[in-house]
Parts: sequence; C-alpha cells; structure tokens
Amino acid sequence: MTEAQLKAAIPLLEARELTVRFGGLTAVDAVSARLYAGELVGIIGPNGAGKTTFFNAISGVVAPTSGKLLVQGAVDLTGRGPHRYAAHGIARTFQTPRVMAELTLADNVRFGMQFAGRHRTPVAGLRTEGDILAMLGLSGLADRLAADVTPSQQRLLEIGMALGTRPRVLLLDEVAAGLTESEVDAMARRIRALRDDHGLTVVWIEHAVTTLLRYVERVLVLHQGRKIADGTPAEVVRNAEVVEAYLGDEMEAAA
Ligand SMILES: Nc1ncnc2c1ncn2[C@@H]1O[C@H](COP(=O)(O)OP(=O)(O)OP(=O)(O)O)[C@@H](O)[C@H]1O
Ligand SMILES: [Mg+2]
Repeated sequence: MTEAQLKAAIPLLEARELTVRFGGLTAVDAVSARLYAGELVGIIGPNGAGKTTFFNAISGVVAPTSGKLLVQGAVDLTGRGPHRYAAHGIARTFQTPRVMAELTLADNVRFGMQFAGRHRTPVAGLRTEGDILAMLGLSGLADRLAADVTPSQQRLLEIGMALGTRPRVLLLDEVAAGLTESEVDAMARRIRALRDDHGLTVVWIEHAVTTLLRYVERVLVLHQGRKIADGTPAEVVRNAEVVEAYLGDEMEAAA
C-alpha cells in the first residue's frame, strides 16, 4: 500500500464500542462506527434512539461511560472537552441552535474562529467570515444581530459558527428541522457542497429521511441506543429490522 492509500484507509474518526448511560438508561449502547475522510454519512433513527447523545459523545459534550474515540487511528480524545475536539477539527451544531443573539452574524462566525484556537488549517474556500456567510447565503445579513434573523437563518448561522472552527469533520444535528420543503432541499444541497466543494467530512442527523437518503452515500441507523444498520441508502431501506424499527412509519409519513 502507498502512504496515500494507507492514510485514506485510516478512519478520520473512529468510535469503538461507545456507551453512554444516564442512570439506568443506556442512551448509546456499544456503538462502533468509522468515518473516513471525505464521506457524507447520515444518521437516522426514531426519537430517543441516541443520535444526539452519540454526537455529544463524539464531540466532547458528554463523556462516554465506556468505549473510545480515536482521531486518525491514533489520538484518543475520549473524555476530553469540546475545545480539544475542536482543536482536532471536529465541529458540530446543536439540535436547538446556540447562536449568540446579541452579536452580529459576522461576530458569531468569528466566535467560532476563536473557539478552535489558531493552529487549524483553514477550510478550502472558507477562510474568512465573509466566505462562510456567502457560502450559507447570509452575506447580506452580516451586520444584523442574530436575534433579528429568522429561525432558519439562525440554523444556517450555527453551521457558520461550526465552519469558523476550521473543521475537518462537521456533525450536523437536525439542521433542516422546521424548514419548508424547498428550504430542506436547499439545505441538503449546501451540505453536499460542504463535502464536494470544501472537502469536509460530514455527518448529518435528520428525520427528513427521504431527502437525507438521496444525498448521503452511507447511513447509520440507531435504535434504542444500538446501531442496527450501517450501509448504503439502498441497503438500509431493504433492511427488515430498519423498516420495522423506523422506516415503515417515516416512509408512510413522507408518502
Ligand atoms: N442529559 C441527559 N440526561 C438523561 N437522559 C438523557 C440525557 N440526554 C438524553 N437522554 C435520554 O437518552 C435517550 C437518547 O436521547 P437522544 O437525545 O440522544 O435521542 P435522539 O435520537 O437524538 O432523539 P431525537 O430524534 O428526538 O432528537 C433518550 O431516552 C433521552 O431521554
Ligand atoms: Mg436528537
């Protein structure tokens, strides 16, 4: 194997048997997953399946009860805080947007830029807050306060704050929730562009399953904390356990 092939074969991020317990509840149950550079991966599953908790555990927001989180097969970040994750290029959005209402959109993105420290390599084509706001269609609103833009613009801004940290891996938690159908499609195209045009590895949690499955090339399915499937959209929609646990209802709701 050449060095380039070897490097490509080492996952950018690897969860090994990650478990998160809250008292008697096992929110994430021994989940293993590998994320390779340049992938666009979806995570789906019913409410309470453990999707957000899995993100929390792979971004330093909660410490796993057991298991490991490795960056590029070597750096063990298990139990470290969000700044360490950010410094290693892992950025995420929150299911409930956490923008700073009293700051302008440009300052919110600059806050993200400071969060990860100075040592990160800029994301291709997204070096400045102006680049980031333009990519998100928010250029005209740079000097507005975050409090004064719409909820869907705040969702985009949260992605902007995450991009400000100059990530390699971007974890998106229901960034399309509450958007209209055409806004959901626009969001999906933007997410695809973050990977295609800016080289990011993207993991995307969303309940809008039919849209998500059209855009990702691999999808993980969580159910009651366990990973019950991991494959291409075509494989996952044919998986009987997945249809039983989740997709039956979601596909009917979408039809
Ligand atoms: N901080 C916490 N303390 C106690 N229980 C929690 C905590 N966070 C999550 N849980 C529980 O863990 C389980 C998984 O929740 P999680 O939010 O990860 O699910 P989810 O798949 O993201 O659901 P949704 O699709 O509704 O966002 C749920 O039963 C939830 O109530
Ligand atoms: Mg969630």
